[in-house]
Amino acid sequence: MNTLKAAQFRVVFVHVVLAALCTVRVVAQDAPDVGPHPHQPLKPMESHIGHVTGHAKDAKTDYRRYCAGCHGDQGDGNGENAVWLDPKPRDFTIATFKCRSTPTGTLPTDQDLFNTIGRGVTNSNMPIWNTFTDHQRANLVAYIKTFSPRWEKEKAGDPINIPAEPPVTIESISHGKALFTKLECWKCHGPEGKGDGPSAATLTDSKDQPIRPYNFASGGDDARFKCGSTNQDVYRIFMTGVDGTPMPSFADTIQPNDAWDLVHFLRTLQVHRHSKENDVLKAAGGTIPPYVDKAAPSIQPASGAAGGGN
Ligand code: HEC
Ligand code: HEC
Repeated sequence: MNTLKAAQFRVVFVHVVLAALCTVRVVAQDAPDVGPHPHQPLKPMESHIGHVTGHAKDAKTDYRRYCAGCHGDQGDGNGENAVWLDPKPRDFTIATFKCRSTPTGTLPTDQDLFNTIGRGVTNSNMPIWNTFTDHQRANLVAYIKTFSPRWEKEKAGDPINIPAEPPVTIESISHGKALFTKLECWKCHGPEGKGDGPSAATLTDSKDQPIRPYNFASGGDDARFKCGSTNQDVYRIFMTGVDGTPMPSFADTIQPNDAWDLVHFLRTLQVHRHSKENDVLKAAGGTIPPYVDKAAPSIQPASGAAGGGN
């Protein structure tokens, strides 16, 4: 008797619970239709690039057609091709970007994203989208901003200030080399910049994917960086950091003018690329002289012309 009652109760109980669940589910399903908003409304995001204004809604077709296969319909980086790719397509829902003119941890500017789309990302499967009109690219920038709530709460960071580039000299290169050693760039990038430093094999990005430091020695005149190819771009990369990767920002450790010395040295690591830095090095006999700190008190009289200020 008792067991029967218990069983009956259980049946009734289960029905009640099921009914409740169904009601909830029906309500949840119906809600978007009865409410004032369509299911998953597209946020009315905009982008501003020069005098061009981009609108998210105008990029819907282009995004689905050209971007979703890798970045996913929901912008989460899980498009159907993503499994085959290394590095993985960017997950726009966390709004972390490698290529920024803005300090580490902050959102990039609209112009940064616009530039990235037109430039592509070298050493990855992210194509160069230079056949789009400026309006199409601006619309895509606005569309990317619909995927993360960060764009509604935060403003883009202020672009870092880059002072004018001083002339390339062997002293500048020599100081850059000293900084490369002191700041331990070599631990990841290797002493010759070949991407083979002692930490290189163990690095992972913020999504736990293995990642290799850049190999400066690979490539010739066509050598580019993920976030550009000019000396200004190199300066910007290590002063803003490559967010989402172990490549840190050095804005707090390197003085603006010292940063140019480091840029000049990094260019000499690109041994197969023609550059004014490699010309200056060649003219100096092909070896980088040890750095002599002019500011530090020195008892050695051998520092030559540098001692003139005393
Ligand atoms: C064939 C795959 C593929 C397609 C198609 C593709 N991307 Fe990407 N995209 C990538 C990969 C891979 C990365 C990450 C590169 C990296 O981390 O080095 C990326 C990164 C990006 C980034 C982030 C760059 C940064 O600073 O972090 C943006 C923005 C972007 N893609 C926009 C787009 C847009 C817009 C489209 C469509 C017009 C598009 N992508 C189409 C593969 C793709
Ligand atoms: C903890 C390891 C680590 C240290 C230390 C480090 N890097 Fe990096 N660096 C990386 C990784 C990893 C990448 C590749 C990021 C990527 O592919 O998205 C990178 C990328 C770069 C790039 C851009 C390459 C590209 O493809 O865009 C430059 C330039 C660079 N590093 C310079 C430096 C300099 C200069 C220093 C020292 C002041 C330094 N790095 C210190 C790990 C490191």
